[in-house]
Amino acid sequence: MNIDVFTLFPDWFEWFASQRHVTNVLAAGSSLQCVNFRDHTPLSGGQVDDMPFGGGAGMLLRVDVVENALRAHYALDPVELREQRRVIALAPGGKLLDDGLVDELAAEPALTLLCGRYEGFDERIVEHFASDAVSIGRYVLSGGELAAMVVCDAVMRKLPGALGHEDSVAEESFSVALGGDPEYPHYTRPAEHRGWRVPEVLLSGDHRRIGQWRAERSRERGGGPERSGD
Ligand code: 6GU
Repeated sequence: MNIDVFTLFPDWFEWFASQRHVTNVLAAGSSLQCVNFRDHTPLSGGQVDDMPFGGGAGMLLRVDVVENALRAHYALDPVELREQRRVIALAPGGKLLDDGLVDELAAEPALTLLCGRYEGFDERIVEHFASDAVSIGRYVLSGGELAAMVVCDAVMRKLPGALGHEDSVAEESFSVALGGDPEYPHYTRPAEHRGWRVPEVLLSGDHRRIGQWRAERSRERGGGPERSGD
């Protein structure tokens, strides 16, 4: 998986890229590269944003700046780029990220993430350069960077080598293996703390009963069987 992140704050991603599950994935052949919009602006003084036509608060990332950055990096018209790889604009009004979308993105050979700042993007960026607009929730962040990191984290931990053992991803919260329900509760030592005992079944060594118990707890957390299938 090759991930390119276009941002005005590439240094934010240095910390992210140094985290263990990310370095594992990078060591296994993936890449995570940042491109600074400001290095590619055709405007003077490093300008990348501008006031909205029609008035209103805040500044918008300019379409010519994003075009220049994408062209410089891929040597391709960005309108054609999005036919060749997923180009995702991180925008609060985009489609909501969930486990299904993460699986879909993790299956791609390459992703381009566009981080808007200030009030966001000139709409022509989303309309003509992006294949998707993605949001991580119905609230507004001051830029797309944290959302891009959420996407990277959720995608990269699905890639081979990210976690210690591959089982951990298949049967986790919201996965198909759990019928889209949240994960069952986990416990570790001590088996008792302040009188709070770990459920006896988990100490039983009876893997059939343990599997059954976990499936039941997972269904309960998902709101019960009547919710399955929605
Ligand atoms: Cl993707 N961007 C911004 N700026 N705010 C958000 C978001 C994205 N997702 C939720 N809030």
